[in-house]
Amino acid sequence: MKKIALTGIKPTGIPHIGNFLGAIKPALELSLSCEARYFIADYHALNSCKDPDAIRSMTLEIAAAWLACGLDPAKVLFYRQSDIPQIFELLTILLAFTPKGLMNRAHAYKAMLQANAEAGKDPDDGVNMGLFSYPVLMAADILLFDTDLVPVGNDQFQHVEMAVDIAQSFNHVYQTDALKLPQPLAHETGKTVVGLDGRKMSKSYGNIIPLFAPEKILRKLIMKIVTNSQSVEEPKDPDSCSVFALYKSFADPAQIEDLRARYLAGGMGWGHAKQELFERMNEVLTPYRTRYEELMQDPGYIHQVLRDGGAKARELAETKIHELRKIIGIQ
Ligand code: ADP
Ligand code: TRP
Repeated sequence: MKKIALTGIKPTGIPHIGNFLGAIKPALELSLSCEARYFIADYHALNSCKDPDAIRSMTLEIAAAWLACGLDPAKVLFYRQSDIPQIFELLTILLAFTPKGLMNRAHAYKAMLQANAEAGKDPDDGVNMGLFSYPVLMAADILLFDTDLVPVGNDQFQHVEMAVDIAQSFNHVYQTDALKLPQPLAHETGKTVVGLDGRKMSKSYGNIIPLFAPEKILRKLIMKIVTNSQSVEEPKDPDSCSVFALYKSFADPAQIEDLRARYLAGGMGWGHAKQELFERMNEVLTPYRTRYEELMQDPGYIHQVLRDGGAKARELAETKIHELRKIIGIQ
């Protein structure tokens, strides 16, 4: 029996290279050995985004992005959270098993409290109940589908652990094992992708390279990567260089060794190293970019894929919610 892998994808627009290497690629690799269920977490987005057009376009873009990167909807159950009403029913059930104190301890909520304190605001300023109870909705996303593995970034580990706590509480009360205990799976181990300024590539730092950037923009961004002021002649250290770090993620072992040797030998300027990086990245990314552009020309297809996935996911969800309703005495 294959393990069930499930993850939620925040609809935050077109992904960057960090999302691609740190989340999309590993999740798609995992889907080859697991029964994968990947969904667009659109109701999670509502907590922070109240712009209907933005929600619609970001949902479409993120779905197109994953399809362009190779998600095969015939093999991966791919759906929108909002198409599965049972998730929200399970949320209601789980709320009754979630101590408020558990939510108080969530890192994301605590970070908001601290930011408010530092700004001299009321501790709960700008915190809606959706944000506060976010981990319970995430637990419902996970537990409804008998998930074994949840591939996520390290920042999401605590949420998966909370899903385990909530499931255990439910199972304990009814002396059942109806809710399977999931395990978080780090998909970015040792693989934090650096951005243009050498820090972690992140939308919040404004140092990103968009995954589908057109060739010209891709080149321009790569030329902006911060390097030191060493002259062309000087030997350079590949292991402390952002250009080389990115190159390693796109080149094959022979190409990596070749560029490493040229760094160490001296006589190669930064412009040259960046040009090498651009050529490699452009070669790898062009097919993805082309596919993304094609998909965005055909939103009807993307919606159809999500609708089909939703119909299949609802069948699984209906069976599970029926089982749970019986256990709790609501049927
Ligand atoms: P951002 O920091 O740009 O807002 P997100 O938090 O939306 O990125 O990231 C979505 C997922 O992509 C994360 O769970 C994380 O695993 C992965 N990810 C984001 N940035 C990087 C990075 N620089 N290196 C590796 N993985 C990343
Ligand atoms: N909270 C996750 C994030 O911020 C997205 C998400 C929602 C998720 N529901 C999930 C991830 C269920 C894994 C499982 O990236």
